[in-house]
Amino acid sequence: MLNLIIAEAALELIPDQIIGHPSVKNDAERTGNEPSTIILDRSIHHSGMLKLGEDFKRGRPDLVYLTLLNATSTPLYQDGLAKVYIHTRNDIVLEFREQTRPPKSYSRFRDLMRKSFQEMPDSGLIKVYELPIDSLLKNIIADLVVGLSTQGGYSGYGELAVELSGKKNPAALVGGFPRGHFTPKTTKALDRVVRVDERSLDAHVVVARLIYEVEKHSRT
Ligand SMILES: C[S@@+](CC[C@H](N)C(=O)[O-])C[C@H]1O[C@@H](n2cnc3c(N)ncnc32)[C@H](O)[C@@H]1O
Repeated sequence: MLNLIIAEAALELIPDQIIGHPSVKNDAERTGNEPSTIILDRSIHHSGMLKLGEDFKRGRPDLVYLTLLNATSTPLYQDGLAKVYIHTRNDIVLEFREQTRPPKSYSRFRDLMRKSFQEMPDSGLIKVYELPIDSLLKNIIADLVVGLSTQGGYSGYGELAVELSGKKNPAALVGGFPRGHFTPKTTKALDRVVRVDERSLDAHVVVARLIYEVEKHSRT
């Protein structure tokens, strides 16, 4: 079973620091939501986000959704041979039960995330809990933990897929953020860091290609 972790995901509720910012207040009025229950989104809260630390790495729920969709739409996932976790930059884990499909529309996904962060459900199709990345990997009992990053040593997708497929319960971490790199804390929890291309690609492309290669080995 491949454990795919969308790590340090740029998915969070509006932080207290910018709760009163006009970009947030306007959004709250327009949508009829409490500011503290809205998902931070660069495309809406850009001017407010400039006040936040590491703003370049935050507020991209769309990107997390694309990556999640690419993973959960694959035959590997649908056959129950991959499990997906979103691990946010605030150490909130969203664990998807095997073969659970996320909502087909982005607005529904965003609503589901808002609800999940507020209610932290611990059963059903998505389990939500707070856990640092190292503890999550211990809970998974991963026998190989590979982080995908342009900062890693080069390996082709095929080569990496062979290595992952040779293990019983491997984990692959892909960054759920638009720019920047894994924090030292995340990097410390990895066995290996791997670069699959000279370019920095979108996480959903890396995930789709890696899973396709893993499928080839899990079916032989
Ligand atoms: C948009 S990138 C983040 C940008 C970051 N500068 C980078 O290149 O790793 C999102 C994620 O996609 C994965 N990724 C993108 N390009 C990659 C590459 N060439 N090799 C391995 N992973 C890559 C990494 O997991 C990365 O955290």
